[in-house]
Amino acid sequence: MRPERARVTGGEQIGPYTLLRVARGGIEPGIPGQFFMLEAPGRPLPRPMSLCLAPPGELEFLIDPIGPGTRALCALQPGDELAILGPLGNGFRLDVERPLLVGGGIGTAPLPYLSEALGSPPAILGFRTARHAEAARLVPNAEVVLEPTYVTEAMPPGHDVLACGPEPMLAAVAQLEPAAQLAWEAAMACGYGACYGCAVEVDGELKRLCVEGPVLAAEAVAA
Ligand SMILES: Cc1cc2nc3c(=O)[nH]c(=O)nc-3n(C[C@H](O)[C@H](O)[C@H](O)COP(=O)(O)OP(=O)(O)OC[C@H]3O[C@@H](n4cnc5c(N)ncnc54)[C@H](O)[C@@H]3O)c2cc1C
Ligand code: FES
Repeated sequence: MRPERARVTGGEQIGPYTLLRVARGGIEPGIPGQFFMLEAPGRPLPRPMSLCLAPPGELEFLIDPIGPGTRALCALQPGDELAILGPLGNGFRLDVERPLLVGGGIGTAPLPYLSEALGSPPAILGFRTARHAEAARLVPNAEVVLEPTYVTEAMPPGHDVLACGPEPMLAAVAQLEPAAQLAWEAAMACGYGACYGCAVEVDGELKRLCVEGPVLAAEAVAA
């Protein structure tokens, strides 16, 4: 698989995160929950990023600058080029009757595109601080909770839950809603099944998250 070169069209600071805009060219945006491998110039390894939004002619990624790869992506300027591969993996199933989106922190990233695809269903988003919660403005119909309140305390029953967030949050959501669809994270070097760096236990077997996921049914993943 060969990455394509794409040009940065802009970037916006949203709380501690950067919304990076990239010219779409011929790249398909894919299904919400799928991801792309993004590589800034001069960085040896690409980094997996969920698609946040796909306005006409662009792809947008919400990035938390937690290390060298993500900081290099956040520092890109309009006109800079990056390498982009995707869409990759399995996204969310969209055949749900009463969707409820649940996100935690940077796990908010795939929810704006998902919300658009599902007609702006209700969402519950949890953040560490009010500054992090600025990202909630990307998701319509979102109720925000701040720590020490957790999203699971605000989740109404009887919904088809689609969630993305840190592992402890996903585990807690799975306890409440065993039929939830959960977008998991793992360190990924290739993104398309070649390196086995992202293996996790699914249905009692080690599976590559970049191929089987990142979205998995809650009941498929061993706690
Ligand atoms: C399918 C998928 C979609 C993702 N979507 C997004 C997104 O939309 N926006 C976004 O900001 N990030 C997203 N991530 C996470 C992002 O890829 C990592 O934060 C990034 O690769 C870290 O690279 P780095 O070089 O900046 O930091 P590194 O130096 O690689 O890591 C910095 C620190 O974070 C830890 N870390 C790195 N990767 C992860 C991870 N995946 N989970 C938990 N801890 C980790 C490391 O152990 C280290 O302590 C996604 C990950 C996956 C697998
Ligand atoms: S990231 Fe290489 S196999 Fe999944």
